[in-house]
Amino acid sequence: MSDRPLVIAVDGPAASGKGTIAKGLAQHFGLPHLDTGKLYRAAALALLRHDGDPESEFSAVRAAQDIAGLLDDPELKSEMVGGIASRISAYPAVRAALLERQREFAAQPSGAVLDGRDIGTVIAPDATAKLFVTASSEERARRRHAELSASGLPVHLADVLIDIRARDERDSHRSAAPLVQAGDALLLDTTSLDPAAALAEAIRLVESRLRS
Ligand code: DC
Repeated sequence: MSDRPLVIAVDGPAASGKGTIAKGLAQHFGLPHLDTGKLYRAAALALLRHDGDPESEFSAVRAAQDIAGLLDDPELKSEMVGGIASRISAYPAVRAALLERQREFAAQPSGAVLDGRDIGTVIAPDATAKLFVTASSEERARRRHAELSASGLPVHLADVLIDIRARDERDSHRSAAPLVQAGDALLLDTTSLDPAAALAEAIRLVESRLRS
C-alpha cells in the first residue's frame, strides 16, 4: 500500500446514489467530501438570479465565476436548477472556471472524496479508488420522484423519467468531459440495493482497491 493521501472518486448519473455513497465513504474513512454537482448547480442558480441566458456560454461562464454565497442555497436542489446545471455544464469554459477549485480539493494533504461526473477521468485521474455508481433509469426516476413528493412538489413519475433520461443523454454525450466510466473505475449498480447496502458495498470495493 502506498502512503499517498487517500483520494476516492465517485462518478455516476443523477439519482444513482453516488452522493449518499460519497458522504458515507467520507465519514467511514474520515475524509473531507465535495459534491461537485453543487458547483454546477450554484452556477445555474447564479445564472437564473441574474436573468442570464443558458444558451449563452459567455453568460454561463460569468455565472460560474459568481457562485460564492450560493453553495448552501436550498434552491440548488430544485429540478429546474439541476436541468440548467446539466445544460451549462456542457460548455468547456464553464468546466474550466470550476476546475481549479475541484483539483485543489482533491489535492489536499488529508485526502478527499469527490463525487460528480468526471472526477475519475478529469479532476482526479490518479485517485486511489474510483467508483462508477449507477442504477436503472426507472429506479433512479422512482427515487427522485419519492424525494420530490416528500418535499411537497407534485410531479408525475413519467415526467421525472423523461427528465432523468434527457439529463443522462446530455451528460453522457457532451464533448467536454462527458459522463463515462473511467477504465480503472469499479462499477457499483445500486438498482436493487438500499442506501445502507450500497454504502457497505462501496466500502468493500474501496478496501479491495486499497489491498491490491
Ligand atoms: O450531480 P448533480 O445532479 O447535482 O449535477 C448537476 C449537473 O451538473 C449534472 O447534470 C451535470 C453537471 N455536473 C458535471 O457536469 N460534472 C460534475 N463533476 C458534476 C456535475
